[in-house]
This record gives sequence, C-alpha cells and structure tokens, in this order.
Amino acid sequence: MCGIIGILGDHQAAPIMVDALKRLEYRGYDSAGIATVADGVLDRRRAMGKLVNLADLLVTDPLAGFAGIGHTRWATHGVPSIANAHPHRAGRVAVVHNGIIENFRELRAELTGTGESETDSEAIARTCEGFMTRGMSPREAAFATIDKLKGAYALCFLFEGEPDLLIAARAGPPLAIGHGDGEMFVGSDAIALGPLTDRLTYLEEGDRAVVTRAGVQIFDAKVHQTHREMRRVRMEATRIEKAGHRHFMAKEIHEQPQTLSDVLNTYIDGARVKLPTDYDFAATDRIQMVACGTAHIACTVAKYWFEALARLPVDVDIASEYRYREGPVGPDTTALFVSQSGETADTLAALRYAKGQARAILSVVNVPESSIARESDIAFPIHAGVEVGVASTKAFVNQLAMLLALAVAAGVQRGKIDAAREAELVAGLKLLPGIMAQALTIEDRCEALASKLAEATDILFLGRGPMYPMAHEGALKLKEISYIHAEAYASGELKHGPIALVDRTLPVVVFAPMDPLFNKTVSNMQEVMAREGRVLLVTDSDGAAQASDGVWEVLVMPTVDPVFAPLVYAVPAQLLAYHTAVHKGTDVDQPRNLAKSVTVE
Ligand code: F6R
Repeated sequence: MCGIIGILGDHQAAPIMVDALKRLEYRGYDSAGIATVADGVLDRRRAMGKLVNLADLLVTDPLAGFAGIGHTRWATHGVPSIANAHPHRAGRVAVVHNGIIENFRELRAELTGTGESETDSEAIARTCEGFMTRGMSPREAAFATIDKLKGAYALCFLFEGEPDLLIAARAGPPLAIGHGDGEMFVGSDAIALGPLTDRLTYLEEGDRAVVTRAGVQIFDAKVHQTHREMRRVRMEATRIEKAGHRHFMAKEIHEQPQTLSDVLNTYIDGARVKLPTDYDFAATDRIQMVACGTAHIACTVAKYWFEALARLPVDVDIASEYRYREGPVGPDTTALFVSQSGETADTLAALRYAKGQARAILSVVNVPESSIARESDIAFPIHAGVEVGVASTKAFVNQLAMLLALAVAAGVQRGKIDAAREAELVAGLKLLPGIMAQALTIEDRCEALASKLAEATDILFLGRGPMYPMAHEGALKLKEISYIHAEAYASGELKHGPIALVDRTLPVVVFAPMDPLFNKTVSNMQEVMAREGRVLLVTDSDGAAQASDGVWEVLVMPTVDPVFAPLVYAVPAQLLAYHTAVHKGTDVDQPRNLAKSVTVE
C-alpha cells in the first residue's frame, strides 16, 4: 500500500530508485514518482499508472542527483493522476508518504494558498515548507510537521539545498533504514533495499530518523534520542524473480510443494509436532482468530481443525469489524492473528485491541520482522518466502499448514489426540508436499476449463465443512484477478436463497472430496443440476466415480485424508482463477484497485 524509497548515495539515484520502486510496485501501482537534489536543486518526475511509465519518462526527461526519494502509489485520497502522485512538493520540501493523514483538512485550513493535489499527503509538504518560511531548519520544520500529524504514516522528506539529509518517520506503516558503506537508504521493506544493503534498522512505532551519509539518529515518540538494533537480512529472502514463469502468481503456485515442505520441516520433529515456543493450549478456553481476506479464510478453515481435533472453541473475525466491535475478550481467551505481510492495518489494530485483555497474543506471519510479529507474544513464521503476486497463494497454504500444526499441538496438550493419532496426522502431513506436487498436474485441465469459465459473468462456489471456506477462497481468487463476479455459499445454505440465481448460464464450482459430508454435498449439487445449473465438480477419483453423471465438468484431484483436503483443494482454487484471468488478459500479478500490503484501514 504505497512503497517508499529514499537514497543518500554515491551514484545517480534515479535508476537505483526506479529499480527499488519496481520491487515495491506490489504495494501499489496507480502512479509513481521520484525527486532528487542535484547541485542543491530539488526537482521531481511523476507518471501515472505502472512504473514503466515513470521509467520511460526518465529516458526522455532524466533526473540527476545522488540524493532522492521515490514512491509508488495506491490511491487513498484523490484519483490516480499526476497531480496526486508523490513526491509532493512545496517550495524547498518534497515528501513521500504511505498511510492516511486524518487531520489533513485542519492542516490545509492553517495554510495559505492552495495546493495542487486532492491528497492528504500534500498537506505534509506544505506544512513543512510553512515552518521553513518562518525560519526553521529543515530538520526542525520536519519534526514540527510530524508533531502535528494525526493518522498513519511512513514518511520521507527531502530538501532543496540539502543533498545529505533525509528525515524519515513512522506511525503505523513500516519503514526501515538501510546502512550502506558511505551510503544510507530508507525503504518500506527489506525487499526494496535488497540489492542495496543487507543491514537494516526497523523504525518502531512513533520513531523519527535523521539520516545522513554518516549514519542515522533515531528519536522515539517522545523525541528522545534512542537506539534501535541493526539486523542482517538474508539476501535470498529479498530476491524476487519469476524464474521462467509468466507471472509471479504462477511461480508462487508452483513453489508450493517446496514452501509447504519448508514450513512442515520447521514444525515437525519425527512423529510429533514441535513448536519453537511452548504455549499451553490446555489452559485456554477459546481462541479468537482475526485476519483479513485470504488470511481470514485460512482462519475459517482452522476453526474446523481446532474444534474437531482439539475440542477448542474458535471464533473467527474479520479484522476491520473486530477492531471496532468492542467484543469482550476473556482472560482465558487466546487471540491469534494471521497475516502474510504482518503489516495489515486492521489486523494490527485488532491485535492492539486484544493486547492486555487476552491470555496471550499469538500470530501466524510470513514476515518475521513485521509489526504484527513484533507485537505478538509468540509469532509463528510460515516460511513461505517472498510473495509478490497480489493474490495470496503459497502464503495461504503455509498459513493452513501452520494452523493445522497448531491444532494438532493443541489437541495433544488437551488430551484429545493420543500419540498414535498424532503420529498418524504427522505422517499425513509429511506426505502433503508430494500430494501438492501431484495436485499441480491438474494445470492443463484447469487451463481448458478456464476458457469456459472466462465466458461467465457470475460464478458460484459451493462446499461443506472445511470445503465451505475453500469455496470462499475459490471465489475470492477468481474475482480479484479475473474480475468475474463470484460468490461462495455453504452448499446446505443454497436452498435458503441463492438457488434463485441458478440457471443454465451459471457455472457452479463444487468442492467435494470424498469425506463424511460428500453425499450431502452431492445432494445439493443435484439441486443445482435439476435447475440446469452447470456444475464443475472438483473431487477425487472415488467422488468422480460416484457423482459424475450429468455434471458439466469434473476435475479430479489426488485422494487425500479429509483432514488435509483444504491444502490440496487450494490448488484448483488458485489454478482455475489464474488461468481464467490469463484467458481474459487481466493483470494477474497486479490486479486493478488492489495492493499487496494493506497498511491503511
Ligand atoms: C487475497 C489476498 C488478500 C490478503 C489480505 C490480508 O488473495 O491476498 O485478501 O489475504 O489483504 O493480507 P495479509 O495476509 O498480509 O494480512
């Protein structure tokens, strides 16, 4: 959700910033821009749309200078346009901003004249310039401006006449300072700074930083100078390449046997589930899970596992609802937050709401340095590696694997799973990467089916038990990358309303592995077929043998113990959406209106 880069370097900054922004483009791609200081003069270039437009502009209208700031935007206030693109400039000040300034109208009201944009962010540059006009130094003016801001921000200021100064600040969205040799950097994440340095200092909530080529001074929320640890980041963790695939999403789908194996190897030891830190699930009376989007769907699947395997009640909430609902959190409740990025603003706010009330704050994250990980009592990293495609795939499967491992651990601790059953479940988990590889062989078939799905304007997904949230995952993946309207229903709920939608034009995707609910799902499927609905049955060979008659299409998945079916059925959910989107020619990795990391509420 907007990406930021800042450089005090010893080379021309523009090409380095464009490369860094390319790596940040997954955070937003409505417009992009950079500003530099060359011979003391502040100048900028901005372009609408994808970064390639900015790169093209810089060919015809280059920008010199060794110091600069850059931004890739996901629009919040104001349409995507050049005037609304960052960096925003007012006189001697340029600023890039990720977040939302809630009091921007008050700030504007205090300013004389009008700005050029509709954005909240421009008020930051104009306020700062106002302070400088009244005689403050750039640093004093930036600090005075930050003092006035309400809302969420990661910021980086650059000033005319100051080729060795960046001021950065963080309240909400993440921001890291990168340490080079005689060079310094600011970036939204380690991925942005990957090729530049492996030494990072993450700013804490409320921090501001004065960055020069000699180093960084960090001040905490009370503006007391403070020390923040510098960490070394594994370079391979920041490498992003398509590895011969047409899209990052395709690469990430195909990585799943490996990434699944990586998470399982971390949390399995012999015939047992092994957690890095002991957490006593026997001492908790319920789990409150909170997340957004696909991570929320992972929680909904996990509810079935925790309740059945560990006999532990689970409530699952969407973070944007949970954070404001003022729901009671009992002292024996375990609060568990799931997030790929670990930076989702609503999930982080929900975590902060539960903190101090719940028995403990646990999180399941893909980015171990993220805010959600750092603010949890225990964070369980899912080891999926960098996920660039905006639609979550491998992170979702690893979230499922991690949550299942936690459910098994909870079941053992609560005396609901004995050693023999644990060994059986662990043996099943160990087989999963191989089964996932087998599942990926349905790709050609999905491609063929996708050409038919691409003609639909609406698609329904149905499932029962844990296949119900998987139907949601199928519908979410499809709508976000192919722009086809899709809805998911619990198949038993169909006759309570949505069956009215069914006619011969409506494809209905039914996820039905051969499990104890298979016959019930098939009955609901028959109700659709009786109304001429076109059923695409996704099942295993036994299911296909029993229920293929009269269905429109069948997709045969590997046979798997029903406990593990959600992980395996993630593959058709992903591949059907992926190939439908490719067939329609939409932008698979960067679908319209979306961003990978949602750091505004
Ligand atoms: C959908 C998708 C999103 C994210 C959601 C939460 O494919 O990727 O729905 O799951 O924005 O993001 P994280 O997991 O980073 O909190």
